[in-house]
Amino acid sequence: MEKELLIIFMIVSVIPWSFSATVSSAKKKEPPIKDCTRDVKNKSEMCHNTTQIPVQLVNQTVTAKPKLAEFQIDAHKTISISKDDLNDLLDVYMDKLAENAATIHDKENEIINLQSRNKSDEDQLKKYQEQLETCQIQNTTLTSTLSARDEQIKGLLLKTSIYETRLKRKQNLLALHKKQNASNAAAINELKARVKVLAYKLRERKDDLLADWEAATNSCLPHNKISGIHLMQLPDFRPFLVACEGNGWTVIQRRMDGSVNFYRNWNEYRNGFGKLNGEFFIGLEKLHRLTAFQPHELFVSLRLFNGSHRVAFYDDFIIGNETEGYELKLLGNFHGNASDAMRTHDKMKFSTYDRDHDEFTHINCAEYHHGAWWYDFCSRSNLNGKYFKTQTDNEQGIFWDQWYSFKSLKSVQMLIRPKNVKI
Ligand SMILES: *[C@@H]1O[C@H](CO)[C@@H](O)[C@H](O)[C@H]1NC(C)=O
Ligand SMILES: *[C@@H]1O[C@H](CO)[C@@H](O)[C@H](O)[C@H]1NC(C)=O
Ligand SMILES: *[C@@H]1O[C@H](CO)[C@@H](O)[C@H](O)[C@H]1NC(C)=O
Ligand SMILES: *[C@@H]1O[C@H](CO)[C@@H](O)[C@H](O)[C@H]1NC(C)=O
Ligand SMILES: *[C@@H]1O[C@H](CO)[C@@H](O)[C@H](O)[C@H]1NC(C)=O
Ligand SMILES: *[C@@H]1O[C@H](CO)[C@@H](O)[C@H](O)[C@H]1NC(C)=O
Ligand SMILES: *[C@@H]1O[C@H](CO)[C@@H](O)[C@H](O)[C@H]1NC(C)=O
Ligand SMILES: *[C@@H]1O[C@H](CO)[C@@H](O)[C@H](O)[C@H]1NC(C)=O
Ligand SMILES: *[C@@H]1O[C@H](CO)[C@@H](O)[C@H](O)[C@H]1NC(C)=O
Repeated sequence: MEKELLIIFMIVSVIPWSFSATVSSAKKKEPPIKDCTRDVKNKSEMCHNTTQIPVQLVNQTVTAKPKLAEFQIDAHKTISISKDDLNDLLDVYMDKLAENAATIHDKENEIINLQSRNKSDEDQLKKYQEQLETCQIQNTTLTSTLSARDEQIKGLLLKTSIYETRLKRKQNLLALHKKQNASNAAAINELKARVKVLAYKLRERKDDLLADWEAATNSCLPHNKISGIHLMQLPDFRPFLVACEGNGWTVIQRRMDGSVNFYRNWNEYRNGFGKLNGEFFIGLEKLHRLTAFQPHELFVSLRLFNGSHRVAFYDDFIIGNETEGYELKLLGNFHGNASDAMRTHDKMKFSTYDRDHDEFTHINCAEYHHGAWWYDFCSRSNLNGKYFKTQTDNEQGIFWDQWYSFKSLKSVQMLIRPKNVKI
């Protein structure tokens, strides 16, 4: 722009110079050309004289019709321009002037336009401001709602954390339970397996017992080849197990190691006690039933601590019922290499410490001999006495002697079997 202005200025400063030359020759009272030129520089003011051309016009004129004004310089160095030429020039300028006026008008319209637009912009701005206010109000309510929500969320988060803690605890508990459950399941499985084995064994045993039951006998005679425990059945009596030795002998009493206490009361001697594969007494009621059912013989086997073995046989043996005090009703003939130490007890009732059937009125023989027997005054044999681990001379011990010798025995067995039987 500065360049343009500079060019304009140069042209303008040349042209009026030529005019002023003519003017100065015609009218010397006119203001100096230079003043006008200076005025032209001020855009806001136009020259009054027609020869003083507005900047814009000058620039255009000069470019549009460079040849329009031809002037001659004469010998007096005056520049002459024909009036026609000037008129033409003026016409051109006037046209331009009109054109520019129109342009100005357009610009004015444009400004009005812009102002109206400014107004509508202002309206819009107002609207926007109103909207902004509404928005701010909404923002405030929303902000408060938001903060309330924040509080709620905080509360919920707290609850969630509490629940999470609880959940974790529950999960730990569950894991523990699962672990326990697993170990329990293992234990249960083991027990199941054991139950299976036991059930199998039980079935086997039951089969054995059933077989025994079918083959239940009233003596050990059918089992004469091997010793063992078998079921025995007698009329009107509950079946019971007995220990059978070889040759059809039924063991009714056994002492061998002192593992079973034999100092017992009447009821226990009636029912029997101990272990069939160890020390035991068969029981007086069974003894009564067996010997009442069929004639039996008695065999007593005695072993001393020095290894000496002696035997005593009686070819009859009957025990009475409980009303009769399990009396030794019949003993029969004796034979064997031991003494006949049973003879003195023939026809005697059985005595225990709580059921005194002996011949003494002032002595409880069962107490005195620490046993239970068919005591009379009191005894020459005491096979249910106290067990001593070594040979002991003691009236409470297990002894078998005709002459009141109380040397204790190492082991004894009493056996019975139906008599007059060929094995
Ligand atoms: C232009 O004209 C105005 C008003 O007539 C005047 O105030 C101003 O000083 C002038 N500017 C110059 C540079 O002559
Ligand atoms: C312009 O100047 C010329 C020559 O000096 C003069 O004749 C004319 O009257 C002037 N025009 C006006 C409008 O002042
Ligand atoms: C003046 O003339 C120059 C060169 O011809 C041109 O570039 C410029 O735009 C003109 N200025 C005006 C205001 O017309
Ligand atoms: C637009 O309007 C504002 C406020 O009324 C005013 O200040 C400003 O001069 C106007 N602008 C135009 C270009 O009219
Ligand atoms: C909305 O409100 C919040 C809190 O009062 C403020 O920080 C924010 O600048 C507001 N936003 C507007 C668009 O007003
Ligand atoms: C516990 O064990 C049983 C059997 O193994 C299974 O059925 C049950 O689902 C288990 N319970 C848990 C809580 O693990
Ligand atoms: C064992 O002792 C008894 C009685 O004291 C005796 O008669 C017997 O000869 C002894 N036997 C042995 C093998 O010592
Ligand atoms: C007593 O008789 C039994 C059986 O016949 C026999 O085994 C034992 O050796 C005999 N004892 C003595 C000391 O003769
Ligand atoms: C015991 O035996 C006797 C003699 O045989 C008899 O009179 C009595 O009724 C029997 N008692 C019982 C309970 O069987």
